[in-house]
Amino acid sequence: MKLTDRLLKIASLVTKGKKVADIGTDHGYIPVYLLNKGHVDYAVLADVNKGPLENARKEVRHNNLIDKVDLRLGSGIEVLEVNEVDEVIIAGMGGILIGELLEAKKEVARSLDKLILQPMQAQNELRKYLLNNGYEILDEVLVKEDFRIYEIIIAKYTGKNTEVKDEMYYEIGSKLIENKEPLLNEFIDKKIFMYNSILSKIEGKSGDGISKKIEDSKIAINKLEKLK
Ligand SMILES: C[S@@+](CC[C@H](N)C(=O)[O-])C[C@H]1O[C@@H](n2cnc3c(N)ncnc32)[C@H](O)[C@@H]1O
Repeated sequence: MKLTDRLLKIASLVTKGKKVADIGTDHGYIPVYLLNKGHVDYAVLADVNKGPLENARKEVRHNNLIDKVDLRLGSGIEVLEVNEVDEVIIAGMGGILIGELLEAKKEVARSLDKLILQPMQAQNELRKYLLNNGYEILDEVLVKEDFRIYEIIIAKYTGKNTEVKDEMYYEIGSKLIENKEPLLNEFIDKKIFMYNSILSKIEGKSGDGISKKIEDSKIAINKLEKLK
């Protein structure tokens, strides 16, 4: 089994020797890789769907790791109790769903040392949820796989909300700027391209909300250009 760059990057963010849960594990590749490397000694592999959990079970058996894992069927972190694991990975789901999963069992989410989150869409919504619900974004990483750039957010509950200087920082995490993330300019260019595509589709049209959408897209492009 060879991990893709996205999965490898996520795995690299797990702290050595910590107990980890992979929520929405599907194939179970990340925890199996970490256990095989001896990076962690115990992992919970959880999925809400039976098929994916069975895939993970096969992968675990194939690697003779059954004694080192718990496989759990259920939604989000509802399968976990407080202090059972130190770190949680939630990858490959939408940002809104990830926020909902944290909200569904707050006492667990708040007890974790580290949340490693990799939203596929609505990354801005997830940042907004985290920063307005007492989580600190400790770090952010970008990883490129094929033509897509994935965002990984590392967070922890502190009980303190964080105000952003501008709504744009929900879209481009401020840690990416602070860290001079190597893929940042390419990531920003992709966003500008997306806003320009929206503009080219709607400019010259009329209708409900069109002029606001045009104005918002232009403002976003202007702000994004300044971040480069
Ligand atoms: C696209 S796969 C991602 C698999 C893997 N985490 C990755 O990043 O490659 C999404 C997985 O999340 C699972 N899933 C969806 N909603 C879930 C929920 N509420 N709780 C746990 N797992 C969920 C799906 O069954 C599926 O296996």
